[in-house]
Amino acid sequence: MVQIIPAILSTKEEDFKRDISRYKQSHSFQDGWIHIDFMDNKFVPNLSIKPSVTGKYPIKLKKEAHLMVSKPIDWVDELAEAGFERVIFHIESENNIDECIQHIKNKKMDVGLAINNETPIEKLEPFIDKISIVLIMTIVPGFQGQPFIPEALDKVRKIKLKNWQARVGVDGHVKDTDAKEIINSGVDFMIVGSYLLDGDIDENLEKLWEIVNEQ
Ligand code: DX5
Ligand code: ZN
Repeated sequence: MVQIIPAILSTKEEDFKRDISRYKQSHSFQDGWIHIDFMDNKFVPNLSIKPSVTGKYPIKLKKEAHLMVSKPIDWVDELAEAGFERVIFHIESENNIDECIQHIKNKKMDVGLAINNETPIEKLEPFIDKISIVLIMTIVPGFQGQPFIPEALDKVRKIKLKNWQARVGVDGHVKDTDAKEIINSGVDFMIVGSYLLDGDIDENLEKLWEIVNEQ
């Protein structure tokens, strides 16, 4: 069964507070994971809230961080302190990838690598046995609700042929009209932000599940 993970991307604390309380009040997301996006205005041209802010608004869901930042290693300690259980960072980031993976593991958090559409999946190969998640970006990262890039699903199909251990998911403007193609590509999970938050979260999730279950 494909997993649907709700996402929050906030540039202001008040927006985070609003969206996290909406997820908390939803019936659908009482367990599992929540995906929280962080940006440094260098790796992408947008600046998010800091991990410590999220600690002020506790939630039952397990928190995973998606670091769209140039130097992910500098964020790891603060994420551990804020109670994150998984850190996903970009293969395109500036840090030594092995060192960053090790530092996240030292802090007892799970590790994933994200990859942008223009980067070949072979770049992930040297690290694949050390991570548990591969996150395929289906938009140019940095903002919610950007145009979905269907070609990015070729990466999912290629990875599935390689039988890697890591679970594979997509992130970026996942919505009902693309769900069928996404599921057929073989994903294990989908990150969904603006589709859920635009209107009633539970109703929107229901609509998405209907499509998933049609498969
Ligand atoms: C984009 C982020 C995504 C985004 C998902 O830069 O990495 O996680 O918040 O939200 P939607 O589904 O609205 O694109
Ligand atoms: Zn994300």
